[in-house]
Amino acid sequence: MRLDKFICETTELTRSQAKKLLKAGEVTCNGAVVKDASFKVSLDTEVMIDDQPLELIGDRYIMMNKPMDTICSTIDEHYPSVISLLDVPKAEELHIAGRLDADTTGLVLITNDGQWSHKITSPKKKCCKRYVAELADPIEESAIPLFAEGIQLNGEDGLTLPAELEILNEHIVVLTIYEGKYHQVKRMFAAIGNKVIGLHREAIGQIELEEDIEPGEWRYLTEEEINSVHNRT
Ligand code: URA
Repeated sequence: MRLDKFICETTELTRSQAKKLLKAGEVTCNGAVVKDASFKVSLDTEVMIDDQPLELIGDRYIMMNKPMDTICSTIDEHYPSVISLLDVPKAEELHIAGRLDADTTGLVLITNDGQWSHKITSPKKKCCKRYVAELADPIEESAIPLFAEGIQLNGEDGLTLPAELEILNEHIVVLTIYEGKYHQVKRMFAAIGNKVIGLHREAIGQIELEEDIEPGEWRYLTEEEINSVHNRT
């Protein structure tokens, strides 16, 4: 990779700012000043500015406990974007693998790896998502087979994929779905005449939201968590 490109990839500097630094002799490669922007950097070249080594940012995988009144967009709109809660370099390169509504809380996965997020969001991959929902009206056991057979959503052709409904009490349920249609959970309960008044995502595939991550907090995923998605067929 060209040295000026390498500087842009590893810092917040623009190409012209990188070139200025190079001209000023402030960049060293393996200890020697290099002024040539087209100098080729290889994996074992140590590039430094002000004696600080520059490191390429690789793929990033993050879990966040999404707080209420934030949005899963990459820019702030009516509410702040969850990305703006991350204090990381090059946050603009990140995207959200599976959005939540502004009033839904819980697990969001954030990455710059498009193939990885595709395995979570593609309907063909049938990656499960587990939610806890609070319902306005009491729910009966008779709803369980309805969700297992698939629900006819308003305005959609065909049924939803079979979903697992567990009733914790008559107003609190755990629902596991295998797709991610627009407002799917709210629409599934609306279709049986109920209303979701609180929604929280606990898990995506094998990745569980860790309990001690408070709303608005985040951490990088472990190798095992990342691979649990990579290894999905
Ligand atoms: N289903 C919904 O209705 N809303 C969400 O935020 C996620 C799933």
